[in-house]
Amino acid sequence: MENGLENKVVVITGASSGIGAATALLLAQRGAKVVLGARRLDRLAALAARIAAAGGEAAYARTDVTQRADLAQLVQLAEERYGRLDVLINNAGIGPISLLDELRVADWDEMIDVNIKGLLYGIAAALPVFRRQGFGQFVNIASTAGLRIVPTMAVYAGTKFAVRAISEGLRQEAGDKLRVTIVTPGVIDTDFANSMTNPELKAQTKDMQGKLGISPEAIARAVVFAIEQPADVDVSEIIVRPTAQS
Ligand SMILES: NC(=O)c1ccc[n+]([C@@H]2O[C@H](COP(=O)([O-])OP(=O)(O)OC[C@H]3O[C@@H](n4cnc5c(N)ncnc54)[C@H](OP(=O)(O)O)[C@@H]3O)[C@@H](O)[C@H]2O)c1
Repeated sequence: MENGLENKVVVITGASSGIGAATALLLAQRGAKVVLGARRLDRLAALAARIAAAGGEAAYARTDVTQRADLAQLVQLAEERYGRLDVLINNAGIGPISLLDELRVADWDEMIDVNIKGLLYGIAAALPVFRRQGFGQFVNIASTAGLRIVPTMAVYAGTKFAVRAISEGLRQEAGDKLRVTIVTPGVIDTDFANSMTNPELKAQTKDMQGKLGISPEAIARAVVFAIEQPADVDVSEIIVRPTAQS
């Protein structure tokens, strides 16, 4: 049956696990052609094989979002393989949180590089394509940390405030043909804590994710909702968090 996703070409960064992988699976199930990017190629290959085995369409390429050229190549792969690009989901993100006093400056740098510059490089890759086509949608994954700041999350929250600010600016500049959606997850049960370098915070976060976290499919459903709307409907922001999250 035709739906708002059928044959849409969707590029997803950070597709090798968690929210990105769940979103790729749901989109492919619903008839979209997905183009998967992340650094762990073996995981992308396994996910693409799973999608193909279920009758879906997937391509993939090793992508480090801190490298502008990698994002340009990922978008190019979508255009070459499928002839168009309907949606770019800027999902890749890391959260090595800590108190500022710990001076984990390498972690600050990495969060800025992946969460902010990675988003900007995605915009740089897809925006000219969307302008040329006269259609296109960005779906940018933020965080409830980008709504409310708590200790240990200063830098991570800063990057997610930036995701929201850049996305809103992009939406205002986008005009009447391009759509921009911010999807803002709360606590989701994924591998997210693996990027944390402070062992205590990592253990605490994993514990909280296990107790409170909801499935990444909850975010995938929100992304699908935003994409499947008619072209004149811009779902500008969706916040999805556990009912039990304060
Ligand atoms: N889980 C939560 O509670 C939560 C809450 C709010 C927001 N979020 C946001 O949701 C997004 C997805 O996170 P997740 O929870 O699904 O965590 P995850 O399971 O750890 O997934 C993170 C993804 O980002 C990719 N990634 C990391 N660095 C990358 C880089 N330099 N280049 C390309 N890809 C990179 C990882 O792939 P590779 O390692 O293979 O590159 C992985 O696929 C992030 O933006 C995160 O900030 C998560």
